[in-house]
Amino acid sequence: MTELKIALIGFGVVGQGLVEILLEQKKELKVKYGLEFSVVAVSDTIKGSIYDETGLDIQKLLDLVKETGNINDYPNGVKGWDSLKTIKETNSNLIVEVSWTDIKTGEPAISHVKAALKSQKHVVMTNKGPIALVARDLLSLAEANNVQIRFEGTVLSGTPAINLGLNNLAGSKISKIAGIVNGTTNYILTEMEKGLGYDEALKQAQDLGYAEADPTADVEGYDALGKIVILANVVMGGNLTKDQVPRQGITKITVKDIEDAKKEGKRWKLIAGAEFKKDNSIEAYVRPEKIPLDHPLAAVTGPINALTYTTKYLGDVTIVGPGAGREATGFGLLNDILDIYRYIKK
Ligand SMILES: NC(=O)c1ccc[n+]([C@@H]2O[C@H](COP(=O)([O-])OP(=O)(O)OC[C@H]3O[C@@H](n4cnc5c(N)ncnc54)[C@H](OP(=O)(O)O)[C@@H]3O)[C@@H](O)[C@H]2O)c1
Repeated sequence: MTELKIALIGFGVVGQGLVEILLEQKKELKVKYGLEFSVVAVSDTIKGSIYDETGLDIQKLLDLVKETGNINDYPNGVKGWDSLKTIKETNSNLIVEVSWTDIKTGEPAISHVKAALKSQKHVVMTNKGPIALVARDLLSLAEANNVQIRFEGTVLSGTPAINLGLNNLAGSKISKIAGIVNGTTNYILTEMEKGLGYDEALKQAQDLGYAEADPTADVEGYDALGKIVILANVVMGGNLTKDQVPRQGITKITVKDIEDAKKEGKRWKLIAGAEFKKDNSIEAYVRPEKIPLDHPLAAVTGPINALTYTTKYLGDVTIVGPGAGREATGFGLLNDILDIYRYIKK
C-alpha cells in the first residue's frame, strides 16, 4: 500500500481548510477509498515551518495557528526550512501548493511546482498563476518525471469545473465554455440589481470579505481572465496567453444599464468565455454580457459561480457552485489527492 506523505507549501486559509478536512475524514478516507496519508511538513513564510518524517499532529498544528497565529511552538520536528528545501529534502511524495497567487509572474509558485515535479513528487494546487501562465510546461514536466499534477481548485474552487470538462464531458465535443467565474463581481452586480450603486455594492462586498481592499483583480476582470485561459488551454487544448484575451471588467456598468437590462428581460453578468471558431482556433474573452433571464447563468446570484459547457451530444450542461471558501477550496485539493491516489494505486 502506497502511503501519501504530504507537504504543504503555504498554511493560510486553503491549506488549513484542507488539513481540517483530512483530519475530520481520516478514517472514512481509509475505509471508503483506501487512502493512507500523513502530513510530514508545512512550510509558510510567516507562520513557520515544521518537518517530521514520521508525520505531524494535524490537530496540534491547527490549534497552534488558531491560538498563536503561527506554528513555531510545535513541540518536535525540524524547524525553519523554506519552501524549496521542504519540497526537495523532506520525505514527502505529494506537494500541496497553496501559496499566494501572482497572476503576472506566477512566482513563487512556478518555482515550487517545478522543483516538486523535478524531485518526482506529485503536486496538487489551487494557485492559478502557474496554470494560467505555463500549464503546458508543467504538464510536460510532470509526464517526463512520471508524476501527476492536479489543479481543480484553480477554477470554481472545489466545484468540479475542470474535471467536468476533462473527464465527464470527454468525447462530448465541447464547442464553448462560458460562465461566471468570479464571485465578487457577481455579488456586486446582484446587489446593484437590488438598487445599490456600484461603490456601495463594492463596499458591502469588502465588508463581507468577498472583495479585497484593492479590488482591481476582481472588478477589472483579471481573475476571470486567468481562469478562462486555464479552461481554454487545459480543457479545450488551446495555447492562449493572457495577453491574447480581451478583458473588460464591471466598473463601467451603471445602475441605468442594470435597469435597462431588466426592461429587456435580461441581467448583466461578467462572463468569461472561450469558443472554437470555424478555423478551429479558440477565441476567449472576459466581458459583461446581458443574459436572458431564462438562461441558467442568469439565475446564479450573489457570490456563487457557474459554467456552461456547450457540447454536441448533450447541448448545454451547466454546473453551479461555490467559487471560493476555506472548505470548498480545501475540498478541491482533497478531490485531487484522491484522484492521484487512485491513479498511482492502479
Ligand atoms: N481562498 C480561496 O477561497 C481560494 C479559492 C481558490 C483558489 N485560491 C488560491 O489558493 C491559494 C491559497 O489561498 P489562501 O486563501 O489560502 O491564501 P492565504 O490565506 O493568503 O495563504 C497563502 C499562504 O501562503 C504563504 N506563502 C506565500 N508565499 C510563500 C512561500 N514562498 N513559501 C511558503 N509559504 C508562502 C503565506 O504566508 P504568510 O502570510 O504567513 O506570509 C500564506 O500563509 C492562493 O493561490 C489562492 O489564489 C484560494
